[in-house]
Amino acid sequence: MTLQFETIPLGQTELRVSPLGLGIWQWGDTMMWGYGKSYSDADLKPVYEATLAAGINFIDTAEMYGRGRSERVVGQFMRETNTRDQVVLATKFMPLPWRLSPGRLMHALRESLNRLGLARVDLYQVHFPLPPLTVETWANALADAVEAGLTRAVGVSNYDPAQTIRAHATLAKRGIPLASNQVEYSLLDRKPETSGLVEVCRDLGVTIIAYSPIAKGMLTGKYTPENVPPGMRSRLYNREYLGKIQPLIDLLKEIGQAHEGKTPSQVSLNWLICKGAVPIPGAKNLRQAQENFGALGWRLSEDEVQALEKVSYQVIG
Ligand SMILES: NC(=O)c1ccc[n+]([C@@H]2O[C@H](COP(=O)([O-])OP(=O)(O)OC[C@H]3O[C@@H](n4cnc5c(N)ncnc54)[C@H](OP(=O)(O)O)[C@@H]3O)[C@@H](O)[C@H]2O)c1
Repeated sequence: MTLQFETIPLGQTELRVSPLGLGIWQWGDTMMWGYGKSYSDADLKPVYEATLAAGINFIDTAEMYGRGRSERVVGQFMRETNTRDQVVLATKFMPLPWRLSPGRLMHALRESLNRLGLARVDLYQVHFPLPPLTVETWANALADAVEAGLTRAVGVSNYDPAQTIRAHATLAKRGIPLASNQVEYSLLDRKPETSGLVEVCRDLGVTIIAYSPIAKGMLTGKYTPENVPPGMRSRLYNREYLGKIQPLIDLLKEIGQAHEGKTPSQVSLNWLICKGAVPIPGAKNLRQAQENFGALGWRLSEDEVQALEKVSYQVIG
C-alpha cells in the first residue's frame, strides 16, 4: 500500500514521525484485549511489517503492556526483520506507588531496553502523573535518562494542562524539550479540548499523541446496541451508550462516502490528524491495521470537521 504523507516533527525535537502511529497495548495484553485467544504473534508480525511498508514509523508500547510482553514482541520483530532504524520507538515508565526514588525510572528504562533488545529508545514517557513523587521529580529523572543516552526524547502521558506546564518548565531548565503528551482523545472524548490541554500544548510546542483514537473500537461502527463489545469494554460501552452514539456513526459513514468510501475508523482518525494530534490506533490483525492506515493521504474539509464536532458534542454531551 503506498500512501502519500510527510513525516512531522515530534514536539521541538529532532524526531520525525508519521502523522499516524501504531499503538501496541494489544501485543501481549490478555485482560482487556484477549491476546493469545482471538489473535497471536502470527497475526501481529504482518501488522508490524505492513506498518513499516506503509511508511508508518511511530510505534508506542509501555512496560505495563502485557507485563513487558508488548516490548518483547516488538523487540523480536525489529530484530527478525532488521528494521530497528526504521522505527521511532516509544515506551513508558509507570510511577508505581512503591517506586519512591527518581533512580527507579532509569532502572525501569534499562529493564525496558533489555526486553526490547535495544541500547536506546526514541521516546520515553511517564505513563501517569501518579503520586507520591512530584511532576518535577519525574521530569528531572527523564532528563537524566536523556543525558545518560538511554532515550533520544522524552514525553509524558495523562498529564493535565498544569502538570504539562510544570514538566515542560523542569525539562526546559535542563535544556531538554518536552516532546509530547499522550492523552485519550477522540470524537467520543474531547476532554483535551475542554480542559485547555490542546491550547497549552500548542503554545509550548508539545505534540499531542491521541490514544484510544477510535474509542477502543466504538468509532468503527461495528459495535451497536445489538452487538456490544466483549469483556471489560461492555461495562463502559453498554447498549445505552452505543445507542446514543449512532448519529455520530451515521455521519462518519456519510462523510466517508464522500471520500471514496472511507470507513468510520478512517474518518475518525483523519479528524484527529486535522486537529494536529498524532493518533496511535491499536490493531489485532492486518485487516484492522491496513484499514486504519487508510486515514492517511487525504484530508477532511473544514466544514466536515465542524459537522463532526457538532454531532460529537450532541452525543457525548
Ligand atoms: N497512555 C495511556 O494511558 C494509554 C491508554 C490506552 C491506550 N494507549 C495507547 O494507545 C493505543 C491505542 O488505544 P487503544 O488500544 O486503547 O484503543 P483504539 O486504538 O481506539 O482501539 C483499538 C481496538 O479497536 C479495534 N479495532 C482497531 N482497528 C479496527 C478496525 N479498523 N476495524 C475494526 N476494529 C478495529 C480492535 O479491538 P476489537 O477487534 O477487539 O474490537 C482494537 O484492539 C494503545 O495500543 C496504546 O499504545 C495509551
